[in-house]
Amino acid sequence: HFADAAHKPLAGRRALVTSGPTHEPIDPVRYIANRSSGKQGHAIAGALARLGAAVTLVSGPTRLPDPPGCAVVPIETAREMLAACEAALPADVAVCAAAVADWRVAGASDRKLKKDGGGPPALALAENPDILATLSKAGERRPALVVGFAAETGDVVATATAKRARKGCDWIVANDVSLGTTTFGGADNTVHLIRESGVESWPTMGKDAVAARLAEAVAAHFQTV
Ligand code: CTP
Ligand code: CA
Repeated sequence: HFADAAHKPLAGRRALVTSGPTHEPIDPVRYIANRSSGKQGHAIAGALARLGAAVTLVSGPTRLPDPPGCAVVPIETAREMLAACEAALPADVAVCAAAVADWRVAGASDRKLKKDGGGPPALALAENPDILATLSKAGERRPALVVGFAAETGDVVATATAKRARKGCDWIVANDVSLGTTTFGGADNTVHLIRESGVESWPTMGKDAVAARLAEAVAAHFQTV
C-alpha cells in the first residue's frame, strides 16, 4: 500500500485538463482557430494519469494520440469546452492548458457564405466564456486546485501574476513566448510556476518534462493538504 502511494500519489483523485485550440465556426465549412498543438495539455493529462489520477481530458482538435489512461472528450468550440468541463465536475484539480479562442463569430451562418457580388462579409465577433475563470469561481463545485496557463511577452511574471488574480485560479504556469523558443507547436517550454507562496522559474525543458514536474507539484500539494 505504501509503495503504491509513492508511485501513484494521485490515486483516488479526479483531474480535469483542457488542451488544444478551439475551432469557432464562420459557416459550415470555415472556422477561426489558432496555432495551439495541444502538446503541453496532452502531456499534462498523461502525467497526471501516470501518477494515478482519474483524468478527463477535454480537447479541441489536435493531431495527437489520446494520452494513455485518460478519458478524452473531443470538442470544437469554447462553449462546447465549457459544457464538457462542467459535465466532468466534480474534480480535485483542473488544469486549463487549452488555447481557447477569445472570440467566436456572432451568428455563424447555417449556410456556406457565397461570393454573391456584394463584397466580403463582415464578421461580427462575440466574446467566448472564460473556462478557467468559470471553474475558479464555481462555488462549491470549484476544484480544490485550479491551474491556468498564460503565454506572455515582456514582464512575463508580473503580467501572469496579475492574470492569476484576475482569473481567481490558484496557480498560473507562465510561458515566456518572447525568447524565440517556439512554444506554439514546439517541443520545449520555458515556464514560471506562479503560486501564492511565490514564483519558481524552471529551466527550458521538454513539454513532457514540464508536464511531469507540474504533476509532481500537484501530487505534493495534495500530500500537504
Ligand atoms: N482561458 C480559458 N477560457 C478562455 C480564455 C482563456 O479557459 N476563454 C484560459 C486558458 O486556458 C489559460 C488562461 O485562461 O489557462 C489564460 O489564457 P490567456 O489567453 O492567456 O488569457 P486571457 O484572459 O484570454 O487574456 P489575453 O488573451 O487577453 O492575454
Ligand atoms: Ca486569450
